Amino acid sequence: SPHNQPTLRLCADDAALAQAAQLLRAGQQVAFPTETVYGLGGNAMDDAAVAGIYAAKARPSFNPLIVHIADLDDVNAFAVLDGDSRALAAAFWPGPLTLVLPLRGGARVSKLVTAGLETVAVRLPAHPVARALIRAAGVPLAAPSANPSGRVSPTTAQHVLQGLDGRIAAVVDGGPSGVGVESTIIMATPEGPVLLRAGGVTPQDVASVVGLLPHAPVVADSARPAAPGQLLSHYAPKGTVRLNALAPKAGETMLGFGEISGDLTLSAAGDLREAAANLFACLHQLDATGATAIAVAPIPDEGLGLAINDRLRRAAAPR
Ligand code: TXA
Ligand code: MG
Repeated sequence: SPHNQPTLRLCADDAALAQAAQLLRAGQQVAFPTETVYGLGGNAMDDAAVAGIYAAKARPSFNPLIVHIADLDDVNAFAVLDGDSRALAAAFWPGPLTLVLPLRGGARVSKLVTAGLETVAVRLPAHPVARALIRAAGVPLAAPSANPSGRVSPTTAQHVLQGLDGRIAAVVDGGPSGVGVESTIIMATPEGPVLLRAGGVTPQDVASVVGLLPHAPVVADSARPAAPGQLLSHYAPKGTVRLNALAPKAGETMLGFGEISGDLTLSAAGDLREAAANLFACLHQLDATGATAIAVAPIPDEGLGLAINDRLRRAAAPR
């Protein structure tokens, strides 16, 4: 059941991280910064701790979680890293990449983390606070984005508290997340690696290391999805969202990009990195100001723009 206590807001010094690690070892849920978005962490080997993550977020239990590690060797305790996956890890870890790997036989990862699948999603984040916290906890941390299920992901501790205050034990404040969109998810299959989610590592970056198969299909149904996490409506602000808008219609709040200016602007310079870093903060701000209809300028569908447009399409999908 939800935690139901005021949520501690911790800084990221050694004493605060020791306190956060203690809470995690005791089975509590603690939000922490990564370079993509803030995660809601729990001990990945403790069923009750993982169940607490699903409860705090009201997340459907068929949608599995990413296990976060602090050092490359930690992956071997529960997953098999070889072939293309090993090459991708060597190129992009630590960083905004998640690899879906075969679960190792006898792995002590909670079945709630993997939602009963034979695979496990693993990430080694680059954020120094994330890595220090995982090391201090001494266990791998299962962590989805630290937002109520279906809402906009958090890129600051304040965003986390807006969604989950009173439902989690603590949030570690490490400042704003620099990348701003979630990790790229790749799964190695016998036919080759498949992109499951566009994210902070671009397809061009990946292509310099391994060849990717064509994109896995998006499943537009809330029933158990074939590829978990591919629910179409997700990342939703409270207002409706209209994409590829050149100007606002009456009553719309405009989210600008490049030469198309708006009430809020993702990047006036038309810089995709800056736009990704600002995306979720803009959507949170639109929620906070009560925007009921949001028009979004076109974003180029290349590089980080692929991840941005993926999130915007989901935000615009019927709910
Ligand atoms: O940047 C990120 O990835 C952030 C930070 C906190 O690391 N985490 C994040 O977690 O975005 P979440 O739970 O919001 O998204 C995890 C995605 C889901 O779409 C889930 O379905 C997918 O990973 N996933 C997890 N395990 C999987 C598996 N075994 N096979 C396929 N997809 C999996
Ligand atoms: Mg999420």
